[in-house]
Amino acid sequence: MKNLIITSALPYANGEIHLGHIASTYLPADIFTRYWRHMETNVYHLCATDDFGTPILINAEKESVTPQQYVKSWRDSDLKDFRSLNISFDYFSQTSSEENIQLTQEVFNKLCKNGHIYEKDIVQFFCDFDKKFLPDRYVVGKCPFCLSENQYSDLCENCGRVPDKILEPRCRICGNVPVKKTSAHYFFRLSTFAEKLRDWLTTNLNLQSDVTSYVLKWIDEGLDDWDITRDLSWGVPIPRKEAKGQVFYGWFDNHICYISSFLSFLKESGNSDGKELWNNSEIFHFIGKDIVYHHYLFLPAIRMGIGYEYKLPDYIPTRGHLMLSNRKISKSRGWYIGLRDFLQLFPSDYVRFYLARVTPYSQTDINFDWDVFIERINNELIANVGNFIHRTLSFINSTFDGFVPNPSVYDDDDLSVEDRISTTPELVGTAISNNEIEKAMKEILDFSSNLNRYFQKKKPWKERETAQNTLYISASAVRTLAILLDPFIPVSAERIWNQLGLTGSVHDQNWSRASQMEMKANHKIGEVQPLFQKIEKSKLNLDKWKVD
Ligand code: MF3
Ligand code: ZN
Repeated sequence: MKNLIITSALPYANGEIHLGHIASTYLPADIFTRYWRHMETNVYHLCATDDFGTPILINAEKESVTPQQYVKSWRDSDLKDFRSLNISFDYFSQTSSEENIQLTQEVFNKLCKNGHIYEKDIVQFFCDFDKKFLPDRYVVGKCPFCLSENQYSDLCENCGRVPDKILEPRCRICGNVPVKKTSAHYFFRLSTFAEKLRDWLTTNLNLQSDVTSYVLKWIDEGLDDWDITRDLSWGVPIPRKEAKGQVFYGWFDNHICYISSFLSFLKESGNSDGKELWNNSEIFHFIGKDIVYHHYLFLPAIRMGIGYEYKLPDYIPTRGHLMLSNRKISKSRGWYIGLRDFLQLFPSDYVRFYLARVTPYSQTDINFDWDVFIERINNELIANVGNFIHRTLSFINSTFDGFVPNPSVYDDDDLSVEDRISTTPELVGTAISNNEIEKAMKEILDFSSNLNRYFQKKKPWKERETAQNTLYISASAVRTLAILLDPFIPVSAERIWNQLGLTGSVHDQNWSRASQMEMKANHKIGEVQPLFQKIEKSKLNLDKWKVD
């Protein structure tokens, strides 16, 4: 059987999951995963929290908790949010797990042995008061170019330049003047992997070319070696006596957690040969476009550097940012939609439906627009899909006492629907496996419009003679729809399944059986209820998002 390992980029254990993360990464990965679960495949959908780094340590200190406690509370919160949106991970680990710490140190030792690591002294700001080295974001001062105050030492938000010599530097935590200190850091020789990376990027045709084309440009411009050391107490300790008090940079250990979490998961399920299985799987790392550099260069170079012991990704599905009413999301300005707030207003399937409908397989940014959202839910999910399902099932109830009627000889209209039932699942499945979820969604909507037209044309409320065929075929089509919709809107799909009175769960159905008319004549359907509720904008309170 085919094995698929699917990872979603690891969220920092440092803040709320918002719609942007969902649209670019978790939802596409989940739809993909759920589809493959219908396909006689071993699928492993993995994720973890990204626990280490200065911002997390500082926030924990602010709240007077240990960093362990701090990341645990965000991990619990993230898990709750993912569950409420039915993101179905098989395993959810954390970068601060024993297994990840151990594997990270092992990877470092191998890289050293293979000559890919060197030491170099670097000068950094240090705050004597906080007793901390201050990474860029933690030093503020006056921009030497535009003289605007209170700018980060690595980016002036006023003029957009990178001030390498910030004036009047201050520690962002306590406001005191920092001093400069020298310490020895380990560097990873990323520059020496340029040609191997170029080869891999140009021969691996699974990668999206709109992404690889600019990654190749970065290679042409020259790659810098990576400083993988941080002078910090919260991270994976560097396993060297002389590096006491130093840890790895978070981007050294976090992607290693893709592997360590897979190994832990397998071990816990009683299979110890995780490495072998990793290397016999197709590997997918789902990400947003802001972390392309790390996934297309850094991650593969490190796997190359340890002698391809764990195979490189086959696919790195990369998607754009979510915009909110065409403006860039900004957490600090309150311009974002938290998942929890959103799910207070709408069922999780509405979010899933809308985002799947508008998220392309490319770097193009995705826009969230309230009016478009409401329109698509009302007109497509409800007036198209929901309507067909509900009118079919209600009609069977009212006219056939809830029993699926017995069909006789089909006419041309019946045959053409039968044909659509037999061909649509493959079209939808192919689109999903090509990662084109919005195309897959359109196929389903198209199928459903066609079914509505059929029902309308056959007028079973009038044409008694053909009504039995119409309703038999429509009931079968509802069953097909339930399976096709399952990856996208799993809660509703299961409700459709139950309303059809079918046994078992829709999640366990084989995809290929969606293309067969398997409803039995005289089968008693379940209790019928409307699946969705129309959104009425006037009744919504969207003040929070400054929507007029
Ligand atoms: N935490 C990172 C971010 O949110 C993503 C880490 S993905 C991994 O940008 F590859 F590094 F694990
Ligand atoms: Zn300070």
